[in-house]
Amino acid sequence: MTGSAVTLRAMRWWDIEPVLALEREVFPEDAWTPGMFWSELALTAGPRRSRHYVLAEDPAGGSPAGYAGLAVAGDQADVQSIAVAPNRQGTGLGARLLTDLLSAAGAAGCGEVFLEVRVDNARAQRLYTRFGFEPLGIRRGYYQPGNHDALVMRRSAPGDHPDES
Ligand SMILES: CC(C)(COP(=O)(O)OP(=O)(O)OC[C@H]1O[C@@H](n2cnc3c(N)ncnc32)[C@H](O)[C@@H]1OP(=O)(O)O)[C@@H](O)C(=O)NCCC(=O)NCCS
Repeated sequence: MTGSAVTLRAMRWWDIEPVLALEREVFPEDAWTPGMFWSELALTAGPRRSRHYVLAEDPAGGSPAGYAGLAVAGDQADVQSIAVAPNRQGTGLGARLLTDLLSAAGAAGCGEVFLEVRVDNARAQRLYTRFGFEPLGIRRGYYQPGNHDALVMRRSAPGDHPDES
């Protein structure tokens, strides 16, 4: 399966239910709750706008192919989440979603982008490293339940990484 048929658009509240199914599939231990998605999407519009959420879908229909979200605070941004449906992984969709988040960070004037990733999630770390993220440190027990440690990664201003694509 290739990622080429998949399109990206802004995630909306009516996407929460199908995204939750994907979320539970790819993060079985610590999936976000509906309330977390509602809170995040509430901040994608209006005067307190600080979030950017993108949904990947196949125009032919079906469940979401992936989604990703970014939080902006001043000149810093944080990758809140990124997930690709198992049957779409390895097709470049993770890279497309991350590119979209980094564009949004750049448009918001963010000089730095941070993220946390489980220390045992080598695949995600490879993706982030390819995009110029560098390890900053470890947050012990960041992921609950399960008490998994997080690697904190940081990327400097968009535009400094010509080899990211
Ligand atoms: C981490 C994650 C988002 C990456 O998404 P993805 O769509 O698989 O990522 P990509 O396809 O862009 O890249 C992954 C691999 O596929 C390869 N790839 C990219 N485009 C490809 C293509 N067209 N054909 C074949 N392989 C391709 C990449 O080289 C990369 O290889 P690597 O893992 O050996 O480095 C995805 O695996 C996922 O959702 N995992 C579960 C949730 C998760 O861990 N999220 C991150 C939380 S911090």
